[in-house]
Amino acid sequence: MTKKNSYILAITGASGAIYGLSLLKALIEHSYFVHLIISEPGFTVMKEELDIFKGGYNSIPVISNCDAKQEILNAIKLNLTLNPNIVSDADFNFYTDMFELLDEKFLESEIASGSAKYVKGMAVVPCSMGSLARIACGISGNLIERAADVVLKEKKRLVVCPRETPLNDIHLKNMLSLYSSGAIILPLIPGFYNKPKTITDIVDFMTGRILDSLCIDNDIYVRWKGYYNGKYDEK
Ligand SMILES: Cc1cc2nc3c(=O)[nH]c(=O)nc-3n(C[C@H](O)[C@H](O)[C@H](O)COP(=O)(O)O)c2cc1C
Repeated sequence: MTKKNSYILAITGASGAIYGLSLLKALIEHSYFVHLIISEPGFTVMKEELDIFKGGYNSIPVISNCDAKQEILNAIKLNLTLNPNIVSDADFNFYTDMFELLDEKFLESEIASGSAKYVKGMAVVPCSMGSLARIACGISGNLIERAADVVLKEKKRLVVCPRETPLNDIHLKNMLSLYSSGAIILPLIPGFYNKPKTITDIVDFMTGRILDSLCIDNDIYVRWKGYYNGKYDEK
């Protein structure tokens, strides 16, 4: 396990936990170590949407709970299309060493400090309106809020992916405030010009857009190729 090049990924209590897991998988497949933080409401939504953590999640300790990590990996296996090169359980175990699961209360974590130079940036996927508001105000009351605060002050990439509809003026003001502080606001609003056929196609589209915003080269989704001589270029 190497932390030389890593990203922080926070999954909060907004709908769309699958997007967070997809980004976790994609970052690992692009050889980045991931510091994963899931808020307590984030676990609740995962339980609801992905049928995991049925046995509860309150006993998750400060760092790297193996059972919780295994549940996350099983959810990836069940809900997302795996790389065709991943054929055996042994291949799949490679993912286990490429991420750590950090408790949101673990403010003593190394990623709570700007001295963690190997951290390239952070994404909050999905981002609840609550977390968005607290990050915009610099509350830093848990590890998600503190890590985002640090990433901003260190002038690294912070990609925040809100999921709420409709939006009130408080949401909009908080988004503008975060944008003005340097964050990228990337709402989880998939495009349909690439003619998605499955949920995976829709999730891949958003994951690719998030990777683009983190400046990670990828070919996860079908990009718009443009019209030439009045025709869409299929190549
Ligand atoms: C099933 C479920 C879905 C939710 N979806 C959203 C959502 O899409 N957006 C949102 O802002 N909050 C949503 N919430 C509410 C948040 O989970 C709640 O505001 C929580 O306090 C956010 O905490 P966190 O930011 O620490 O994760 C949802 C809650 C549940 C139980």
